[in-house]
Amino acid sequence: MSRVGVFRHVLFLLFMCYCVESCVQKYIQVQVPEMLEPGYVVSQVNLDDCGDGPLGLISSDPDFTVQMDGTIQAVLVTMIPEEGRSFWITVHDRKGHRWFVDVILSPPGQVSSNAVLRRSKRRWSPPPFSIKENDKGPFPKQMEMIASDSSVNYSVYYKIGGSGVDTPPMNLFSVTRNGMLSVLRTVDREQYDKIVFTAYAYNTHSDQQTDDPLPITVLVEDENDNAPEFAGPMLYAVQEKCPMSTVVGKVIATDKDQPGTLHTKIKFTLRNGTDLFKIDPYSGEISAITNTLDRETSEKYILEIEIRDMAGDPSGLFNVGRAVVSLNDINDNPPTFAQPLYKGQVAENKADVMVLRIPVEDRDLKNTPNWKAVYSITKGNETGNFNIKTDPVTNDALLYVTKPLDYEKQQKVNLEVMAQNEVPLVGTTSTWQKVPVEVQVEDVDEGPEFSTSILLLKVKENVANGTLIGTYTAIDPETKSNKDIKYYKLTDRGSWINVMDTTGELRTAMTIDRESPLVYDNTYNITLKAVDRSQKSGTGTVVILIEDVNDNVPVITKPDQVICSKDVTGSSILIEANDLDQKPYSDPFSFELGSGTDGQWKITSTTATSAKLQPVVALPNGQYQVPILVNDLQGFGKEQTVTVRVCDCTKGGVCAPQNLSTTLGVWGVLAMLLGLLLLLLLFLLCAFVCSTKGEKMAMLDDAVDGGMLLKSNLEAPGEEVKDELILISGSGEMMDFSKGTGMLEHQTQLSSFDTGFGQKQNFDSMRHNSIQGFMTNTLPHGQYSTGTYGNSYKKYSTMSTMDGWRENMIQLDTKLAYFREDADTRYAEDILKPYGYEGVGSPAGSVGCCSDLAEKESLDFLDSLGPKFKTLSDVCTSK
Ligand SMILES: *[C@@H]1O[C@H](CO)[C@@H](O)[C@H](O)[C@H]1NC(C)=O
Ligand SMILES: *[C@@H]1O[C@H](CO)[C@@H](O)[C@H](O)[C@H]1NC(C)=O
Ligand SMILES: *[C@@H]1O[C@H](CO)[C@@H](O)[C@H](O)[C@H]1NC(C)=O
Ligand SMILES: *[C@@H]1O[C@H](CO)[C@@H](O)[C@H](O)[C@H]1NC(C)=O
Ligand SMILES: *[C@@H]1O[C@H](CO)[C@@H](O)[C@H](O)[C@H]1NC(C)=O
Repeated sequence: MSRVGVFRHVLFLLFMCYCVESCVQKYIQVQVPEMLEPGYVVSQVNLDDCGDGPLGLISSDPDFTVQMDGTIQAVLVTMIPEEGRSFWITVHDRKGHRWFVDVILSPPGQVSSNAVLRRSKRRWSPPPFSIKENDKGPFPKQMEMIASDSSVNYSVYYKIGGSGVDTPPMNLFSVTRNGMLSVLRTVDREQYDKIVFTAYAYNTHSDQQTDDPLPITVLVEDENDNAPEFAGPMLYAVQEKCPMSTVVGKVIATDKDQPGTLHTKIKFTLRNGTDLFKIDPYSGEISAITNTLDRETSEKYILEIEIRDMAGDPSGLFNVGRAVVSLNDINDNPPTFAQPLYKGQVAENKADVMVLRIPVEDRDLKNTPNWKAVYSITKGNETGNFNIKTDPVTNDALLYVTKPLDYEKQQKVNLEVMAQNEVPLVGTTSTWQKVPVEVQVEDVDEGPEFSTSILLLKVKENVANGTLIGTYTAIDPETKSNKDIKYYKLTDRGSWINVMDTTGELRTAMTIDRESPLVYDNTYNITLKAVDRSQKSGTGTVVILIEDVNDNVPVITKPDQVICSKDVTGSSILIEANDLDQKPYSDPFSFELGSGTDGQWKITSTTATSAKLQPVVALPNGQYQVPILVNDLQGFGKEQTVTVRVCDCTKGGVCAPQNLSTTLGVWGVLAMLLGLLLLLLLFLLCAFVCSTKGEKMAMLDDAVDGGMLLKSNLEAPGEEVKDELILISGSGEMMDFSKGTGMLEHQTQLSSFDTGFGQKQNFDSMRHNSIQGFMTNTLPHGQYSTGTYGNSYKKYSTMSTMDGWRENMIQLDTKLAYFREDADTRYAEDILKPYGYEGVGSPAGSVGCCSDLAEKESLDFLDSLGPKFKTLSDVCTSK
């Protein structure tokens, strides 16, 4: 071993005040295998004599550990050399006593002879030693003596350095030259639990270090000088009605003293609230010991908690804190109604009005789903009149009427309203509450109501005036009777219907005409009003569906036609007819030629509503009246005349203009003559009437109002004069001539007469084709004719002054006929004489003359009329 060697046994420690007998054996010698596994139990230190309380056991060899119970174990795989291996165990108790146990391991079969010797060498290695914290002194307090191995051969002195000396904690230790270590002041374990400094040994003479520096470890022993403290906020929450043993939370406490010792072993205690909660004494966990925690009783609990170290020993230090346990709400309370019944009122016929506000109470946390109410109507909304809403602020139920109620049907509505929350109920046995609600419907005086808002009536057109077509009545909804209700028309565009104000009977006031422009789609609407005594009213509509009857004959739409004289036989005209009625009272029409056409014309049907009219023979220029019978599908029709002009045409298909004389022709001249003749006759008649006292016949001296109708199927000249537009025909059918649609034939003829003595004079001769008297032909035809017009009537319009003339002419005719029949032939010379028709061969045509010779002078002017008229006058004078 070198002089300044690496010293395994450098220092030895001197025991300062330890004179206590050892409680453990001095050494343990065991045989072990050459190789030890980790955990191999080598031996055990017998600690039986060391009394109670914890002991510190430290192994000097890191390859081996020693347990609290003294068991020595290998830590790693450890080889045991042939000469064996040894170390020692330090045992120290709380009072600071310390003992050493040498452990000598020898491989199998060998027993070391110098074991004891070696042991004595090794025990000088320095074990860690300790000082007490918070030591009150007095200081400096001697701790231990150190000595180096070299002190055997040299005179040495000692120095220390490092932490606890010249680095913090400064000035804690000091050493005397001879090696006495002292503690200079109090130390706090919570600040420095272990201090390591270095000891140096110097040769007194040479001041050379005689040994390697030795680190010395000083442990600071703990004293229970810190009370436990609470850590973190002590706020906890748990649901109300939670089951028993539900953990609320854990109280956390700390203690600065040495962990793992009683100084830091904390016991938790609940100081109050122990009927509801408990705390685990060592983990600090709070839990409920009941399932009846009720937020509605107490929202939170404050618990006083004590923490005490030394495992709760009264000598331990303690602290008291407060934990707050809040209860979370659950929906354990349904909304409840205060009253057993609610009543409301609403006027009938009112919609979207609030009827009632129903308050509820919910003890759960306000404005949470546990509190918010949801209402429903469980009974009484079968007709859908109600709705219910929640007041978002007060949580009240708001009952509305959304569909009007009718007092006459229901005076009181019984509802049942249920209140729920937005979330289901939990943790309670109670259920959702229902409450009956009575809504009283208030009566409001209402106007009468028609039995139906639209009444449909079917009526045949042309029914007689005053026909009852139906009854439209209304009743008062309050009294359910139609007493004192009056009916009025609101609209009736044609004033066709009369309504009986007391009964609501509807009668026709006018002819119902389906073909009227007031009728759309076969319907005619009127609206009625029903008014009760209090002047309240209701309205209704009557839709009259008009059924068609065959009251219109087909009418030729264009009765005046032209044929150009060139190529007369080849050309044709299209005759079209129209019937206002509906099918089957309308087309297809049948077209037939009337009588008296003498085979000059031919007619062929082309379409359902038209036919082709063709001349069969070459016709001279002139006007031709072609009677055509047009019947509808029902065979209902009449003969109508189509006037065909045969003329020379211009290029456009119209007649070329002609000069007046040729236009007038023979007939024109005769017609003029007739006018003069009539003037003369009038004069004569006047003279006669004034000069005789004979029978007088009234003369009309001004135009007749409203025209006149003559019956023409009498043999005698017309006598009946009716100032009426309507006549009853033989068949008793109603004929309305005022409409211009019926019996057009007559009007056509009349108009041709009206428009003059000129071009359009209508001569019937073509039709009759027989020689007739001059007067017969020139007077309005049909007057004396009996054949052609059988059962027909005439009407003369009052439009022109010609009517007056015509009237007088008729009267004259009557008079003259009377004269002719008179036995006394005084006036025989004055009467009318028929003359034959000479035909076209005569240069003057056919004339008739009844002028008196005595009047010759007054007819002198006729001389200027030309040769034709001369001939005529010759005829007259020769008689
Ligand atoms: C002290 O001296 C003796 C004899 O000279 C020697 O054997 C021994 O090893 C020395 N001790 C130390 C620690 O140097
Ligand atoms: C416990 O005591 C504290 C104060 O001493 C008090 O505020 C609290 O309400 C008590 N808790 C119970 C549950 O009694
Ligand atoms: C009442 O009935 C009507 C129609 O069925 C419906 O719209 C309405 O929501 C109902 N009201 C309630 C509260 O159920
Ligand atoms: C009904 O009376 C109106 C006017 O009073 C009259 O124009 C109409 O011709 C009459 N109709 C019948 C079918 O009597
Ligand atoms: C009559 O009334 C009915 C029902 O209101 C309607 O459909 C029809 O168009 C009306 N007809 C006329 C002509 O106004």
